Amino acid sequence: MQIPLLDLKAQYATIKDEILAAVSEVLESQRCIGGPKVAELEEKVTAISDCKFAVGVSSGTDAILNSLMSLDIGTGDEVITTPFTFFATVGCIARAGAKPVFVDIDPKTFNISPQLIEPVITDKTKAIMPVHLFGQMADMDPIMEIANKHNLAVIEDAAQSITRTYKGRKAGSIGTVGCFSFFPSKNLGGIGDGGMIVTNDEQLYDRLFIMRNHGGKPKYYHSYVGGNFRLDPIQAAALLVKLPYLNEWSEARRRNAAYYNEKFAGTVVQIPYINADCVTIYNQYCIRVPRRDEVVAHLREKNIGCEIYYPVPAHLQECFSYLGCKEGDFPESEKAAKEVLALPIYPELSDEMKDCVAETTLSFCSN
Ligand SMILES: Cc1ncc(COP(=O)(O)O)c(C=O)c1O
Repeated sequence: MQIPLLDLKAQYATIKDEILAAVSEVLESQRCIGGPKVAELEEKVTAISDCKFAVGVSSGTDAILNSLMSLDIGTGDEVITTPFTFFATVGCIARAGAKPVFVDIDPKTFNISPQLIEPVITDKTKAIMPVHLFGQMADMDPIMEIANKHNLAVIEDAAQSITRTYKGRKAGSIGTVGCFSFFPSKNLGGIGDGGMIVTNDEQLYDRLFIMRNHGGKPKYYHSYVGGNFRLDPIQAAALLVKLPYLNEWSEARRRNAAYYNEKFAGTVVQIPYINADCVTIYNQYCIRVPRRDEVVAHLREKNIGCEIYYPVPAHLQECFSYLGCKEGDFPESEKAAKEVLALPIYPELSDEMKDCVAETTLSFCSN
């Protein structure tokens, strides 16, 4: 049996006619930049995120970069984040000109460990950027408490966790801003790149909005240097088709996770830990296994897709060597990078496919 890590063709087959009609509507209108589809998506994302304002942008990466720029975070500033994340989180801090300052993760949730944040705050710290990894939100209460005490912005990297909750509160609605990605592999994925920023701060919203279009307002008059961070209306149209299915797809992912959890119970496979305060979206289903790289080779040999999110923590990336971090500085992140393994979790998986994934994994691990 051939089981990919993610089968976007299976999803597309169920909504193909709707997507083609929506794309065609944009093409017929020739509103190729901005327009009603982008505005409608923004409105709908504010509703599902319990936020007042949303700004559609070109990617999750640009959501983060625009947020940093709009908060005037740049040269000489420090932003505290986790080293165990997708590159974009940290890359954007560096691109904004600021210094990424790392703290280690909670080994259970893989998210930033709040109790390690306060000791690294300096008079240069401007923001904390928690990442809601694999679809589960970070422990936001203590993070917000620290941020409020030190007057810091909180940029939620919610790229992997749209609509999910922490103590009943939606991803992106707790911090100063929340950043979503519509990269095709995300739970709400476009047919190309896309992203969104949400906030409840009207003044910040105005700035994010202006910065999306080179910082000009009125047109051709620039008080700020922004970028071309605009969301493509074709992406907005496709996302509007997909949005009504998001809950159903998320539920299917949760059912798949429960299925695997049962299969792996009592084995050496460590299943994802879900904080009782959180509802996860299972953007990834990440297990921990001993001899992880051999398990990967075994699964691939049996035509089962799997992925390592993420093999190198940010503090050990070559491009950040100037920060002076070394192996051993963030042991939990380094350990996670050696042990995690994402298995197929997409909604269209059949029971037979899940059995095959679980049994193939276990057949190696039990040896
Ligand atoms: C945690 C995290 N942050 C940021 C991003 C960047 O999003 P994008 O790929 O849409 O630029 C991603 C997605 O790839 C992500 O997973």
